[in-house]
Amino acid sequence: MICSLKQVGVSFSCSDVVLRRKQSNPFQSSLLLPSIPKGKAERSLVSVHKPLHLSSPTEKFSTSNLPTVNTRGNFIRCEAFEADRSDIEASTPSEAAKKLKIGIYFAIWWALNVVFNIYNKKVLNAYPYPWLTSTLSLACGSLMMLISWATRIVEAPKTDFEFWKTLFPVAVAHTIGHVAATVSMSKVAVSFTHIIKSGEPAFSVVVSRFLLGESFPVPVYLSLVPIIGGCALAAVTELNFNMTGFMGAMISNLAFVFRNIFSKRGMKGKSVSGMNYYACLSILSLLILTPFAVAVEGPQMWAAGWQTALSQIGPRFVWWVAAQSVFYHLYNQVSYMSLDEISPLTFSIGNSMKRISVIVSSIIIFHTPVQPINALGAAIAILGTFLYSQAKQ
Ligand code: 3PG
Repeated sequence: MICSLKQVGVSFSCSDVVLRRKQSNPFQSSLLLPSIPKGKAERSLVSVHKPLHLSSPTEKFSTSNLPTVNTRGNFIRCEAFEADRSDIEASTPSEAAKKLKIGIYFAIWWALNVVFNIYNKKVLNAYPYPWLTSTLSLACGSLMMLISWATRIVEAPKTDFEFWKTLFPVAVAHTIGHVAATVSMSKVAVSFTHIIKSGEPAFSVVVSRFLLGESFPVPVYLSLVPIIGGCALAAVTELNFNMTGFMGAMISNLAFVFRNIFSKRGMKGKSVSGMNYYACLSILSLLILTPFAVAVEGPQMWAAGWQTALSQIGPRFVWWVAAQSVFYHLYNQVSYMSLDEISPLTFSIGNSMKRISVIVSSIIIFHTPVQPINALGAAIAILGTFLYSQAKQ
């Protein structure tokens, strides 16, 4: 923006001396205007990168604590501060474009997730080593991003120690949530894991209420009744119920609520994009998970299981493993690109809605037997998620 000020008989510009001083509001600065040679003052202009608001220099003799400058006997004090960007953005017509962009992200995210779930379950049916498959998903994503950075397809993020320190708890939550969900899916039907995982908003409310001290309107709490009731009904009527599978999905819910809250905080005000943030998260999670995967399952079991799977399925098995790993990274990457633009709550709701497509497609593809009462429980839970999103709005 270009700005200039006029004092009676003298015009002067902001370009001559701008003294920036950090105040309680980091976007606010003081602008001190010294006496200015007249010829120069009339010509000069100031350019700044961000819009400035200038307060009017109405006081000739300032009595405030703020600094003043004597210009030919007159004291002038004026302040400049950057305009609040949100005011500018809210008033632009880009809102519709942003909504469209988020809608496209959501559609891609859900489609990639369906494909991931199908290949993941195919792999786990033939090769029941969820700790290794979880590790491979992270390794594949990390490798893809390292190659993208090295070849400059994607610009590498500029990170420091503080960034990785802040990322660590997110990575721990991501690792736990990922392994727990994969262990769950190795024990029960994909649809069952996702029905239980549709209870994630309930976990979000409980964590926000009791750990973050946030309170919600009564309708939000009421919407948890169908979510919890529906999940419970679906669980007790599940034909293939397995406690490890159930607990894995529950642990994953809890871990992912923390992951989303910490992620959003970590991404706020950082120059790292959603895509790169998820890439760094994958790398750190891989480092955390690998020793545990080796300890829990180990190379001997993996090698023996691999031979068995190859002999049963043939070379297609390798492609399934590759597909589940690649699609895992892609759907998470797109989901983080969405999280970059939306609140953790909207993210949780989008995630719950995604589960409808996963539940339906996996029931069709894997011919999962479903009793009417079981389907009713799932439908109630999903309806509860919808009510929750309405109550939140
Ligand atoms: C995983 O392996 O991380 C889970 O399958 C992902 O669960 P999500 O549907 O909550 O992303």
